[in-house]
Amino acid sequence: MKSIKGVKVADVVSVYSSAQGDLFQLMFGQQIHVGGMKASIDLADRAGIKAGMKGVDLCCCNGGDMRFLVRFRNVASMIGVDVTEAIVERGRRLTHEEGLDDKIRFILADARESGLPSASADFIWSEDAWCYVPDKPKLIAEAARIVRPGGVIAFTDWVEGPAGLSDSEAQRFLGIMMFANVEDIAGYAKLLSANGCEVRVAEDTGRFSRYVDLYLDMIEMQLRYDALRIVGFSTELLDALIDGFRFIGEMARAGKIAQARFIARRG
Ligand SMILES: C[S@@+](CC[C@H](N)C(=O)[O-])C[C@H]1O[C@@H](n2cnc3c(N)ncnc32)[C@H](O)[C@@H]1O
Repeated sequence: MKSIKGVKVADVVSVYSSAQGDLFQLMFGQQIHVGGMKASIDLADRAGIKAGMKGVDLCCCNGGDMRFLVRFRNVASMIGVDVTEAIVERGRRLTHEEGLDDKIRFILADARESGLPSASADFIWSEDAWCYVPDKPKLIAEAARIVRPGGVIAFTDWVEGPAGLSDSEAQRFLGIMMFANVEDIAGYAKLLSANGCEVRVAEDTGRFSRYVDLYLDMIEMQLRYDALRIVGFSTELLDALIDGFRFIGEMARAGKIAQARFIARRG
């Protein structure tokens, strides 16, 4: 697993509490993951998420995925865990505005130590967020602890692709994204198995590079003023962020990074 030194959870919190977090929201919309609602539908269908289930979203951000699950999959309730206070506050406000606060609850906590009861959820959910969590073994163990026996862990994440990142590419990629490390598909599958889960799906979604191109086009061709407004009209800062995304697109096209989908059932 490739890693960089010095990235702590507090650094991720400051990204999501800053202009960069707002920029992500502009680029991605309410659901801050590659593929938006289409990706959520794919994941929910493959994982068999059904009406009446109770779920936990670990690293839920502003809760867009939980609102999708409540509205379009009729899940009974969702608990979202996120470590960034500003994001949790935004999530509570958006959920209240949509009239969904009777079904969705936010907890401000580190996903590795959520404090939620063992075996209390029918499913654990996450989209493109566990890449931020430094200690993947602890995170997967927490997911496996919270889900009930027979329940499902369903998530997508940014992973190292089969072509592999060189050390210098890994340093640049991890630094841009503020990830302490990046797992690969086999690494996640191994962690899930080690925590008593049967891995049913562990695959590249195949959508990453196309979406990075879409985000770049949106910022460069349509939303540049909006993006500049968010970063205090600093063209240098915005161009550095765009350059970073262009590099990520190159890495994705070369098979060095990908978005992967995982579905596992706890034994
Ligand atoms: C890319 S966003 C998640 C997006 C969300 N799945 C969606 O589709 O809207 C990543 C989120 O992970 C949260 N996060 C990062 N590290 C965390 C940790 N250790 N515990 C809980 N939340 C964490 C950040 O605060 C941020 O809100």
